[in-house]
Amino acid sequence: MSQRITTFEEFRDAISAYRLPRVLLAGLELDLFTAVGDRSWTVADLSKKLKVSERGLDILCRNLAAAGVLHKKGSLYKNSRLGATALNRTHRAYRGGYLDIMQTHWKDWGRMLESVQSGLPIDHDIPDAPDYRRQFTWAMHHRTLEIAPVIAAQIRLGRARTLLDLGGGPGTYAMAFLDKNPRLQASVCDREAALIVAKEIASTHRTGRRLSYVPLDFSREAIPGTYDVIWYSNVLHIYSPEDNQAIFRRAFAALAPGGRFIIQDAFLHDREGLHPTEASLFAVSMLLFTTGGNTYSASETAKWLKGAGFVGVKSLSLKKGTEDWENGILQASVPDRRQKAIARRTQSKGS
Ligand SMILES: C[S@@+](CC[C@H](N)C(=O)[O-])C[C@H]1O[C@@H](n2cnc3c(N)ncnc32)[C@H](O)[C@@H]1O
Repeated sequence: MSQRITTFEEFRDAISAYRLPRVLLAGLELDLFTAVGDRSWTVADLSKKLKVSERGLDILCRNLAAAGVLHKKGSLYKNSRLGATALNRTHRAYRGGYLDIMQTHWKDWGRMLESVQSGLPIDHDIPDAPDYRRQFTWAMHHRTLEIAPVIAAQIRLGRARTLLDLGGGPGTYAMAFLDKNPRLQASVCDREAALIVAKEIASTHRTGRRLSYVPLDFSREAIPGTYDVIWYSNVLHIYSPEDNQAIFRRAFAALAPGGRFIIQDAFLHDREGLHPTEASLFAVSMLLFTTGGNTYSASETAKWLKGAGFVGVKSLSLKKGTEDWENGILQASVPDRRQKAIARRTQSKGS
């Protein structure tokens, strides 16, 4: 939804957009794609297997087929490629982690008014609770496993030899950077429970041998070590402006002279802070799930970066259609030793 709503009909149509998501989620809630598997079904047989009414399933399947996630031939339904793989619990490409979170979000978004009234999250998830963290970390992997390599391939790390994936969760981006940069060593910094998942994933990849792990709460503690690059992806929005500025200072301190801090997030790009729509809508998730998070404009984030000592703040463009967020990458540099010395000499001549 990117167009502006001006008429009642447009308003009605915008609200009615809940219908297709509801149909798709009903399919997931029934685990229908797993039940369909790799054979064709009549509605009568499938309704027996799923233990639901034939009339209800007929209307559901017809809509799933109209959406393209099932295929219909005559009176038989079978899975589309997507249904047979990413939506099918028994397939190795199943994206269950993220699908589970989308189902939970449907219910959570239904409680939005509570958060609007209180200004607080609807529930207080304990970020370190191992079960919650494990599920969330797998969800992040399932969300990014295809785009991370495409994005990492477009970010030139040059002579960088060390990279820290700060708030890297499953380490999907760290692994993608390792794959593209054979001389790179990477570390994932996150909560202990997230790092357990990162280790499980890395153990199945050859490049996982070049990955190390930094358990840390970086909203409270200094970042140990020195890195050429810090990658900060999809973390900015979790925190308040003040918290982010403190984290930027910690990142600056952990970077080598000339090092780079690269932020990926849902930046707002217009003067009023309304667009892109995806970035505005994402702020609602932050209202529902965090105490201080939000989405921020690229220009205010650039100001915070300069305040922390970074120079050369610029946006990195990716090929259209390969971005996580529209125009969603900002890069900032730590001055190198020579530049620092020149700046100092210039200052002393002027004084
Ligand atoms: C939305 S996920 C993003 C994961 C990954 N960077 C990506 O782009 O897909 C945010 C991650 O930051 C981690 N995180 C947030 N605050 C943290 C903190 N204070 N200390 C350690 N990890 C933190 C979370 O545990 C989670 O894994």
